[in-house]
Amino acid sequence: MAKKRILSGMRPTGPLHLGHLHGALANWKRMQDEYECFFFIADWHALTTDYEKTGGIAQNIREMMMDWLAVGLSPDKCTMFVQSHIKEHAELYLLLGMLTPVPWLERNPTYKEQIVQLADKDLSTYGFLGYPVLQAADIIMYKADGVPVGIDQVPHVELTREIVRRFNYLYGQVFVEPQSILTETPKILGLDRRKMSKSYQNGISLSDSPETVRKRVGEMITDPQRMRKSDPGDPDICNVFSFHKMYSPAETVDEVNRECRVAGIGCVACKKKMAENLAAFLAPIYENRRDLAENPAVVDEIIAAGDAKARETARATMAQAREAMHI
Ligand code: TRP
Ligand code: SF4
Repeated sequence: MAKKRILSGMRPTGPLHLGHLHGALANWKRMQDEYECFFFIADWHALTTDYEKTGGIAQNIREMMMDWLAVGLSPDKCTMFVQSHIKEHAELYLLLGMLTPVPWLERNPTYKEQIVQLADKDLSTYGFLGYPVLQAADIIMYKADGVPVGIDQVPHVELTREIVRRFNYLYGQVFVEPQSILTETPKILGLDRRKMSKSYQNGISLSDSPETVRKRVGEMITDPQRMRKSDPGDPDICNVFSFHKMYSPAETVDEVNRECRVAGIGCVACKKKMAENLAAFLAPIYENRRDLAENPAVVDEIIAAGDAKARETARATMAQAREAMHI
């Protein structure tokens, strides 16, 4: 039986962190053996909120591909490409725009939320409103059966399904209605106990060196009630302890759990232990990434090969779409 096809993308807005690793990337990595996978860097989508400063995008694209490769996404198993390299996405976006009612876009919950959340940005553009139409083009171009995404993206996939139904109804059966495949994201908090997020600068990046990891862990907020080393602490409300549970062996977790409550261990020592385990966990990724950074031509070749594979599928789809529309 043919493998089901999945597709997902990320906007190249900056270095990926532990939240991405345990959420989307771990999930993609698992899926690459089971599905036919298309993963792409949504650089045009990055423009919808950051059209004023575009200078960093080219570098961010390469960095993102290095992060993907370093964590173990393999070009032998999945097609990894860059959205703007496949011009067919722009053509399909335009065609879908002709048949997508504006009210569908205006009532999109993610759209409404972002307008409020990113109040400092001017999001009154046509491109921002059309974000989900471009996303629909990305998805249906490859006739993806499934789209692994976080919960915030589900409305976009839903809208994609509506657009597919409308297209197929008007012009005949060309496109496939995709399903969302919801990614379980373990809630991983940043150094300041807020959600780990690039915009808060409170994360640990996959590209951070072991020294940076140690330094960043040193800055972590612990049990806020524990003022002095002689005060007992509560690991259950301490983010350092959550990290121990992810990166330290069971004995260390037990020991910290016990000793923290009786003030038998100080936060500085506790963080040091955790930092070593986290640095060890990240070391292979860091080393892979360093090798890739030394060979930018290899990264560019991997991108070019992924582009070529994606383009082949995109061309075939567009031939069908144009024929169905008689243009
Ligand atoms: N909107 C997605 C995000 O911000 C990125 C994206 C663009 C995407 N096109 C896509 C995700 C197609 C899945 C499928 O995370
Ligand atoms: Fe947190 Fe460790 Fe300090 Fe306890 S000892 S409060 S677990 S950092």
